[in-house]
Amino acid sequence: MIVPGMTTSTGTPPRLTDQASDATGAIGVAEVTGAGAAAAEEDFFVDHRVPAVRHLLSIADLDRDGILEIMRLSDAFAEVSERPIPKVPALRGRTVATVFMEPSTRTRLSFETAAKRLSADVMTFTAATSSAVKGESLRDTVETIDAMGIDAMVIRHHSSGAPLRVTNWVGASVINAGDGTHEHPTQALLDCFTIREALTARHDGEIPADLKGLRIAIVGDIKHSRVARSNVLAFSALGAQVVLVAPATLMPASLEGWPVTATGDLDAILGELDVIYLLRIQSERLGEVLLPSLDEYHWRYGLTRARADALKKDALVMHPGPMIRGVEISPEVADLPASLVTRQVRNGVIVRMAVLFHLLGSGAM
Ligand code: NCD
Repeated sequence: MIVPGMTTSTGTPPRLTDQASDATGAIGVAEVTGAGAAAAEEDFFVDHRVPAVRHLLSIADLDRDGILEIMRLSDAFAEVSERPIPKVPALRGRTVATVFMEPSTRTRLSFETAAKRLSADVMTFTAATSSAVKGESLRDTVETIDAMGIDAMVIRHHSSGAPLRVTNWVGASVINAGDGTHEHPTQALLDCFTIREALTARHDGEIPADLKGLRIAIVGDIKHSRVARSNVLAFSALGAQVVLVAPATLMPASLEGWPVTATGDLDAILGELDVIYLLRIQSERLGEVLLPSLDEYHWRYGLTRARADALKKDALVMHPGPMIRGVEISPEVADLPASLVTRQVRNGVIVRMAVLFHLLGSGAM
């Protein structure tokens, strides 16, 4: 099987061609010919030393080496995304099902776009228009979809741990697209890629090895945020120092084992931050009243213009979306150049291409 050379010996990712050139037509190949192609292929095996995992349920499934491998694959797919026809045949003949039991705009569209850009077929399941509303169980639903012959199932569910249960019921690779308050690993991967991209632009195109030395604050509803859990694991695996900022009622009851520090005083640390990562208040998961009011929250924790002015000049502002302007961020700050929110969305497609390729296209399945 021909595999793409993602990294040459000089460290530059070679281009993936638009054409699959092997008999199976399975995946794009490095645009290098003759001896160069053989060397690139050999380099790929050397560089692709991280064994592909079968499922992606948590950032812990990848760890530091796996995250860096996804970053390297994303570099190659970023180049594909710049082309007039941003598509490669890498997953031709494969089928990816998206199974969303909770509302989503960007995550579902992003996975579906990523799968299509890899030439996979896409099957879309939405709870509201399915037999789930007639009372069909999760197990029966996913077994039905799996029986149609799929290679990957991208699942979002309101219960923490649902994707893990699903791995016992289906033969497909399972990707967690957000489960309850547990994890949202592809969000964390696209966030790491976005920070790395911003640093690269700052350092004359030199890609940083990791996020070492960065101080990143994650601000808001940490208690109910699956994004916070995945990002804490990913940012700290890459060497960043993470500080969690929230009122006591929105902090987890215990932070034992979390590689973080925590504070309730955002204003005291603003000037030290390289990245401020804002979270939405997960109103749909607040079973009790944990905040006096959203206005009060904005006053103490919202990224207002005054707080944005107190940040370092080159600090980055991030948010996974959906943003609630006027609560965690004021409208004018959301539109400042320091805000990477739309860059995060763009990179979501690229990084999800890398994840799908890592799970399905590199021989593990
Ligand atoms: C997040 C989610 O659903 O976990 N959004 C996303 O996937 N981009 C965050 C949120 O809903 O607040």
